[in-house]
Amino acid sequence: MKISFAAPALPRSGSLVVGVLSGGDLLATAQRIDKASGGALARAIGASRFNGESGQSLTVMAPAGVGAGRVVLMGLGEAGKLDDLAAQAFGGRAYKAVSGTGDKIATVVIDPVKGAKLKTAGISANAAYGALLASYRFDKYRTKEKPDAKPSLRTLTVSSRDSADAKKAFGPLEKIADGVFFTRDLVSEPANVIYPATLAAQAKTLEKLGVKIQVLDEKQMAKLGMGALLGVAQGSAQKPRLVVMRWDGAPKAKSKAPIAFVGKGVTFDTGGISIKPAGGMEDMKWDMGGSGVVIGLMKALAGRKANVNAVGIVGLVENMPSSTAQRPGDVVKTMSGQTVEVINTDAEGRLVLADAMWYCQDRYKPHTMIDLATLTGAIIVSLGNDNAGLFSNDDEICDRLTAAGKSVAEPVWRMPLGDSYDKLINSDIADMKNIGGRWGGSITAAQFLQRYVKDGVKWAHLDIAGVTWSSKDAPTVPKGGTAFGVRLLDRLVADHYEG
Ligand code: BES
Ligand code: MN
Ligand code: ZN
Repeated sequence: MKISFAAPALPRSGSLVVGVLSGGDLLATAQRIDKASGGALARAIGASRFNGESGQSLTVMAPAGVGAGRVVLMGLGEAGKLDDLAAQAFGGRAYKAVSGTGDKIATVVIDPVKGAKLKTAGISANAAYGALLASYRFDKYRTKEKPDAKPSLRTLTVSSRDSADAKKAFGPLEKIADGVFFTRDLVSEPANVIYPATLAAQAKTLEKLGVKIQVLDEKQMAKLGMGALLGVAQGSAQKPRLVVMRWDGAPKAKSKAPIAFVGKGVTFDTGGISIKPAGGMEDMKWDMGGSGVVIGLMKALAGRKANVNAVGIVGLVENMPSSTAQRPGDVVKTMSGQTVEVINTDAEGRLVLADAMWYCQDRYKPHTMIDLATLTGAIIVSLGNDNAGLFSNDDEICDRLTAAGKSVAEPVWRMPLGDSYDKLINSDIADMKNIGGRWGGSITAAQFLQRYVKDGVKWAHLDIAGVTWSSKDAPTVPKGGTAFGVRLLDRLVADHYEG
């Protein structure tokens, strides 16, 4: 879908969306249409329960005296609550209301709103961003969808005063959406299409944005001593990869130390020899969600030319059972030199991250390292599908992530770490084992990761198992891959690590 910005003008055809504040008072454009149509809008509102609450809408078909074939009144809610997120949700709902109507073009009119938290240009840009995010579809494998079941909309025009400012404000948002879409595509692809080699090839496409890419293969990782990552990979015919993405957007920064993002990229997780039950196993195609977020984030940062030095590292493996697979009880040696007794081959994400995180710190000396992983089912038990679990050794980064999460509607919730949990992963024959007991599974997983964090490095771990895939539509996040983390970390960088 193409998005354009234009000065206020009423379209002569297509769909028209106008915002209505709580209480049902019409804004300037709606008033004009109401007049032109002899009061059709006011009558329609009077005949319905629509009163401008956010989430409500009312479609008036073919009102006389109006060019548009359809006028959608869309609730904006209370003026005082109209911020970025409210404008994005408005845009997402506007898209949904007009995308499947048969119309190819639609106009969303943004009138100035007194008392709003944003200027008109900001409302317009965020409404456009919300509409764009809502327009995401993963339909490449549907060959038989009827044309009238597909979205008809081709062009959405956001019409407002200050449309030049709106367009400018939309610029970086569109680049973030590019990153979000890339991540959603990657997590939606099945595991016969996206496996370590092809996921690495996808990451490599960021080169054209100026991201430096390095891909390590099995041999190179063996030489580096990445026994934990390789132990997970050894059961699969698909060979592992480790991809390093570097965006050096702040070459003149005083300190060259980067911020680093590390992602779990298990392209399919059968559990290995500790095999998972069949029901729902197809979900494990998105066990590379952490890596998908890191790749999409690097795309967003490079796309909007963020003034930051950022490193993204993803460990890519497939976890399969086979005669070459690692066994429960095997002991592997990580790149850090620490040894791990692999009690359960299904606790593989931490093994992959242990080596990826160590390599990250060893080579790139980041001041801050944030890892993302669909690491544990237990985090879904704890937090459900709305918050990602946050584990960290640093209060400031927690505050920053919590604030960033709130402002982009990708919330995180801090979980505890501590010695009493750490003890639970001590092993009788190696430095540690890869699972704790039955309880606190997300915490013992995080304790395991923390054993691979070097002194002085600020570290945060986001367990995104509950938020990577959604079973229901939200205004700016269609069901399916959410790309949770891309907007969060882009905002974290924008607010604290640029300039
Ligand atoms: N990839 C899974 C975690 C997961 C579960 C992600 C559900 C998304 C949805 C992870 O590798 C795993 O299997 N974890 C085990 C750990 C256990 C063996 C200690 C789990 O959560 O059951
Ligand atoms: Mn697993
Ligand atoms: Zn996994």
